[in-house]
Amino acid sequence: MAQGVRGTRDFYPDDMRVRNWLFERFHSAARAHGFEEYDAPVLESEDLYTRKAGEEIVGQLYNFEDKGGRRVALRPEMTPSLARMVMARAGALALPIKWYSIPQCWRYERTQRGRGREHYQWNVDVWGMDGVEADAELLSVLAHFFDSVGLGSEDLVIRISSRKVLEEVLGSLGIEGDTFAQTCVIVDKMDKLPADVIEAQLGELGLSPDAISKIRSVLGLTDLEALASALGGDSEAVVELGALFALCDSYGISDWVAFDASVVRGLAYYTGPVFEAHDRAGELRAIVGGGRYDKLIGTLGGKDLPATGFGFGDMVVMELLAEKGLVPDLASGVEDVVFGMGSELRGPAMQVAGRLRSSGRSVDLVLEDKKMKWVFKHAERCGAARLVMVMPDEWAAGNVRIKNLDTGEESTVPVEDL
Ligand code: HAM
Repeated sequence: MAQGVRGTRDFYPDDMRVRNWLFERFHSAARAHGFEEYDAPVLESEDLYTRKAGEEIVGQLYNFEDKGGRRVALRPEMTPSLARMVMARAGALALPIKWYSIPQCWRYERTQRGRGREHYQWNVDVWGMDGVEADAELLSVLAHFFDSVGLGSEDLVIRISSRKVLEEVLGSLGIEGDTFAQTCVIVDKMDKLPADVIEAQLGELGLSPDAISKIRSVLGLTDLEALASALGGDSEAVVELGALFALCDSYGISDWVAFDASVVRGLAYYTGPVFEAHDRAGELRAIVGGGRYDKLIGTLGGKDLPATGFGFGDMVVMELLAEKGLVPDLASGVEDVVFGMGSELRGPAMQVAGRLRSSGRSVDLVLEDKKMKWVFKHAERCGAARLVMVMPDEWAAGNVRIKNLDTGEESTVPVEDL
């Protein structure tokens, strides 16, 4: 009982400082690109997530019946909530919609490095644009973020493909619709599961061994020219990906991106470009994943609106930042420690603290009788810039003593001037 639930995290102030630092970088990269923040409840109706394609995420739902007999779930991802919100105001929202959020998401996963049962997931999405310009803008948000935390394109790569690659391969074999989505979900696991398991699952969908080997060979491609010769020059996938990579050039982010046909993604709803970022060393799980999902609202019973976006978890990126020595050493944020010498000067110390706080300083007031030695140690522990001492003679003359904790310099300052 005294332990937290397995796979969940406590954030002590030290952890919280780092989390806030990370989230602030998320906020600023989104704001720098003109995205606005939104939020939604962590509890949703279970049927928002019950999709039939056999996705892992649905099997990992934290779902239950509430006291009113309704089937509810803790959100495993933000995209369905966002779709619900957009759908509820369809027609009333100016397009394109460019929104972002940092929700906590819940999945009953096997816990491992970089994967927990809850995580915070930065979501950035564009609705109402069907061109690859929107996808390129998202990639720019990502490059901006990575740059802002000190990660370079030598540390990680954003691998890009399109669901249309597989759609065209399967289309040529006469496979479409639901089977297509289910095939994507299975193919996404190709590098995680043994070949015979994958083949058995695809076989159940009606795919012949020939079809499977065709899929395998196309998914092995990592250059667009080879893709063009496999799919033909007028392939929509090839044209779309060519345009997307050209835009990345214009943004100056080509070093960050690479074509890789094996990127399919494990969620059923993607319809176009899909991408995932991985550490170059290949040691960690995906840092971020996203793509275009033009038909999600339709599956929820509304009128489709094109959309694209990504989800970026807080856990894997922290692993990478730690590995690269990029996690900053952050101070508590306290600027001044105020100390009244002796209990008679406690009242004056409160006045001094009040004055500094009103002027916008972050002040930690020493509330108990303490020795000078303790006060110095305490100020150092807080990482404060100044120690403000209220002392008998100085106070009588309307002054306080201020010690600059960086330089060690002390000065007498009139209270009026604080
Ligand atoms: P996803 O690939 O399921 O996509 O998750 C996106 C990211 O969330 C992952 O790359 C990872 O960083 C993080 N993540 C997911 N599960 C866990 C976990 N159990 N522990 C730690 N981190 C995790 C989606 O959720 C899509 N809804 C993203 C999206 C938004 N697509 C379009 N818009």
